[in-house]
Amino acid sequence: MFIKEIVQYKDKEIVLKGWVASLRSSGKIMFVQLRDGSGFVQVIIDKATVGDEQWEAIKGLTQESSIVVTGIVSEHPKKPGVFEVQASNVEVVHISEEYPIGNKDHGPDFLLDKRHLWLRSRKQWAIQRVRNTIINAIYEFLNYDGFIKIDSPILTPTSCEGTTELFEVPYFEDNTAYLSQSGQLYLEAAIFAHGRVFDFGPVFRAEKSKTRRHLTEFWMMDAEAAFVSHEENMVIQENLISFVVEKVLANNLSELEILERDVEKLQKVKAPFKRMTHAEAVKFLQSAGSDIGDRDDLGADDETMLTKDSDVPIFVEKWPKEIKAFYMKRDEEDEDLVLGADLIATEGFGEVIGGSEREIDYDILLARMHEEKLPIEAFQWYLDLRKYGSVPHSGFGIGLERLVAWITGVKHVRETIPFPRMINRLKP
Ligand code: 4AD
Ligand code: MG
Repeated sequence: MFIKEIVQYKDKEIVLKGWVASLRSSGKIMFVQLRDGSGFVQVIIDKATVGDEQWEAIKGLTQESSIVVTGIVSEHPKKPGVFEVQASNVEVVHISEEYPIGNKDHGPDFLLDKRHLWLRSRKQWAIQRVRNTIINAIYEFLNYDGFIKIDSPILTPTSCEGTTELFEVPYFEDNTAYLSQSGQLYLEAAIFAHGRVFDFGPVFRAEKSKTRRHLTEFWMMDAEAAFVSHEENMVIQENLISFVVEKVLANNLSELEILERDVEKLQKVKAPFKRMTHAEAVKFLQSAGSDIGDRDDLGADDETMLTKDSDVPIFVEKWPKEIKAFYMKRDEEDEDLVLGADLIATEGFGEVIGGSEREIDYDILLARMHEEKLPIEAFQWYLDLRKYGSVPHSGFGIGLERLVAWITGVKHVRETIPFPRMINRLKP
């Protein structure tokens, strides 16, 4: 029996097991905000009902103490639809020591040091519930759309997204290994066995950036599909994101309320999303006052400015090839561009997806790899894929924490992952 099921038990006796989120007492009655992981409920403990002996133990309750409550569910006299529990029996499991996180404002460093406890706070609880819905929605959509999960390795001999952000693992005798930045290259191998595949796991980037959008360890979902063009790739992405947002709206309205998320904005996130070339985006940004150069990457402020008046995310596509990864397919209409698209979320949350059609011409790919000074031998297996039944294909990678930040409206990605790792944080 969990708190989230309580509406089904009006006027019935239930047993709840959980923790005291907060409490106040008025002599002979105690009001406890009980949480059990599934939700929160007010428990009313009346000394006259539980008896003197139990009351002695109950009087000692503190925030975060754990208890088992038996009681009758009743509807709040003034708030229809809100349920409370009138306790008949309260068993104290553990009296908590004085809890370091109270109702007063604590600084972010203090809270991050106490992350093992902070996870229990109402807002943090709500974020992880939404994250869970998002993860499941991604699986559900992809399974339905013909993708199967293929787990890519984390220890790899090469880089996927460029060498500047690699974590080295000095263990293997003949090779330096690196922690994976993205499973994409391995998924490209797997499409030749399964057609449509995805992975979903932790990836690592030794990013020197200390921004609200960067983690050194984060969760990425890479999807890859055979016989899918750049344009079709974007259609899969916008349908996936619309589905995910719809699922969160269907399952997590109470969490979004705790997070004070503007739900109306989420309701407008429906496919099709806008599309804009990199050149169009730059032109718009320059006219809006940005100092972005014609072939530059978008900065965080540029991304915010770009989507400021848009209800839906925007795909920025056809990028200058020198600022994108070696594997992106060149645009046949302009060989200095690649058929990649970044999906930029609304409300200043920035890039949430990076994707592209992949280069399949063996010689062009090899030339690009030479340009990037990649160790060809280590990548030979990847080049092989262009030799045996090569097909047009595309894929994309979602940064889970960025997606959670946008959907929950939480400004910093460090709150969207249970235990954040950043350049200056490895604990707890
Ligand atoms: O744009 P990225 O680097 O693309 C890739 O890694 C491709 N191989 C994916 C693919 O095509 N399968 O990363 C994908 C997404 C970004 O759009 C962003 O949301 C997120 O990963 N991301 C980060 N999230 C948190 N912290 C970081 N340091 C991130 N770097 C990228
Ligand atoms: Mg990117």
